[in-house]
Amino acid sequence: MILRVHHATLRVHDPVEARERWARLHGLSGEGDAERALLRCAYEDFCLELRRDDADPGVEHVAYELRSGVSLAEAAERVAEAGEAFEEVEVPIRGRGLRLSDPDGNRIVLVERVIADDRKPAVARFTDQLPGYHPRRLQHVNYLTADTPRLADWYEGVLGLRVSDWVGDGAVWLHADRDHHVVAFLDKGYAHVHHLAFELTDWGEMRVALDHLAQHGRPLAWGPGRHTMAQNLFAYCRMVEEEMFVELFCDMEQLEPDHQPRHFADDPHGANAWGILPPRSYFRFDAAAIDAEREQLEAQQGLPEG
Ligand SMILES: [Fe+2]
Repeated sequence: MILRVHHATLRVHDPVEARERWARLHGLSGEGDAERALLRCAYEDFCLELRRDDADPGVEHVAYELRSGVSLAEAAERVAEAGEAFEEVEVPIRGRGLRLSDPDGNRIVLVERVIADDRKPAVARFTDQLPGYHPRRLQHVNYLTADTPRLADWYEGVLGLRVSDWVGDGAVWLHADRDHHVVAFLDKGYAHVHHLAFELTDWGEMRVALDHLAQHGRPLAWGPGRHTMAQNLFAYCRMVEEEMFVELFCDMEQLEPDHQPRHFADDPHGANAWGILPPRSYFRFDAAAIDAEREQLEAQQGLPEG
């Protein structure tokens, strides 16, 4: 039923500030005002909506685009058959969407597929809008949870995604097409959006992005490295303002069309083929964890006496 991630909507206190920051740090471009901004990576209609909200900043919802030929009415029927509640909502540019929540309360919006008039690859198109550096697309989302198997069942049963890999029974990745995953869940004992992931073209573009972030005072929380599951080269930049991370990645594993879920042991090799595991702050969003990460306290405190 699902083709891919279409956009994420973020609650922000000041869309003007947030639009400028996402443009400067991550190369997203687009229009907005004091109430709302719509940003894009490249030629898509938008991938990030920044919505003014006085509540805590963060991810309001993640929207998925339905496959060609699946109407909103058909999606509604399927969601209802699965016993899930939903409502119709307005979506910028797309008009209508279907809104529901997963078992952790993560909000999801489904939108119908729109095929662009100009279907040439991005490099064959012309623009007077896009900056020199920009991600290729918003590609996946990763959540922390306290019940990974329940979430995997729900995304398979209600949205029709398929499991790619398990590590132990606490980490799962699900796919919609040949990309290794479009969504993933990791058991850390509580529910929270962990990261939005933007795809870059290659390792060279990642070097450009990581130098750029460093010059803007955004050292990485983890990486660069290579994920063992999914294979992608990764780097994680904390977005303190929206209580989440941005993952910049390239070279994700492409699954066989008849892929069967794989089960891997939860061992130190499981997260990073290059060997370095994340700091504990990587799974937290509180001020103490952010300070510890900024000051590199885990590394500074040294090894225990031998
Ligand atoms: Fe990721």
